[in-house]
Amino acid sequence: MIILLITAMMILTACSRYKVLETKKDTIKIGVSIYNRYDTFISELVECLQEEALKMEKKYNITISLDVQDAAANQITQNEQMERFLERGCDIVCINLVDRTDASNIIERGKNANVPIIFFNRELVKEDLNRWDKLYYVGADAMESGILQAEILIQALQKDMDFVDKNQDGILQYVMLEGEAGHQDSIVRSMNVIQTLTKEGYELEKLADEIANWNRDQGKTKMMQWMTEYAGTIEIVFSNNDDMALGAVDALKEAGYFGTAEKVPPVILGIDGTREGIRAVENNEIFGTVINDIPGQAKGILQLAYSLCYNQPLEDFTLVEGKYIRCPYKIYKKNGE
Ligand code: GAL
Repeated sequence: MIILLITAMMILTACSRYKVLETKKDTIKIGVSIYNRYDTFISELVECLQEEALKMEKKYNITISLDVQDAAANQITQNEQMERFLERGCDIVCINLVDRTDASNIIERGKNANVPIIFFNRELVKEDLNRWDKLYYVGADAMESGILQAEILIQALQKDMDFVDKNQDGILQYVMLEGEAGHQDSIVRSMNVIQTLTKEGYELEKLADEIANWNRDQGKTKMMQWMTEYAGTIEIVFSNNDDMALGAVDALKEAGYFGTAEKVPPVILGIDGTREGIRAVENNEIFGTVINDIPGQAKGILQLAYSLCYNQPLEDFTLVEGKYIRCPYKIYKKNGE
């Protein structure tokens, strides 16, 4: 009898959730958990989510309640945040996983409560995304960013090889600042930038590569070490993101580069197009970056949330395989070229 009652209650709860999702209502409650609020790209993405929510409120005459939480780089904290989102009756939950290989707990909670989950930026494996039909991912194609980073350099090399190859030995000596270990964007970007250049026929020599966790200070520390170790021989700094590239700029500035004709800095390449990243390109500190479309991804997340709540088609995006929204990357060079 008790079992029957519990089952009946579970079915009723599931049905009422469906009703909420299918009926037009005035407020959408969205829970957002980010992996680390000190990450520049992610904090700019959150700003864009807030701006986009305001635009959508006006456009659709609804209220969007965004509850943004910082998981502070702790997966257990994020799992608890998920639980609290569900207790507060969120219609949709958006998760920037701390550990992209550890999504099970969050998926199970969402599935039991029948609340769709939009994962973003830190891509979970396909098998996890296929565990339930209301799991989605919004992000970008990491491979494309590595290829475009290489293209910025190829264009420069075709114009003036000696500008990059300062010792004119026909070989490009480089260092690589990598993001977090195990992050899809670190592995894939590092691999594809080098593969693209090699395929084009350029010879490269890796002096060093190290993990700097997307972080400006860590990027600076690594670059300072390399400047001592490989004094004057580094021709290119490939960085998996703008913040670490800015760290390399900081290190070079401290060593007296920039602003003097005698000391010519290496060519530094970033990815993201954060505000500071773009500013550094315009100041001739970073040679070029690849825009990781922050407003586009924020818009994709919220349009998907809206379409799931009101059962409407997506206006500006295609849902690939019924699950993925991927925003294209774009090259950014000085003066918006
Ligand atoms: C990448 C971005 C990095 C960092 C990382 C966090 O896409 O380029 O700067 O924000 O995501 O997951």
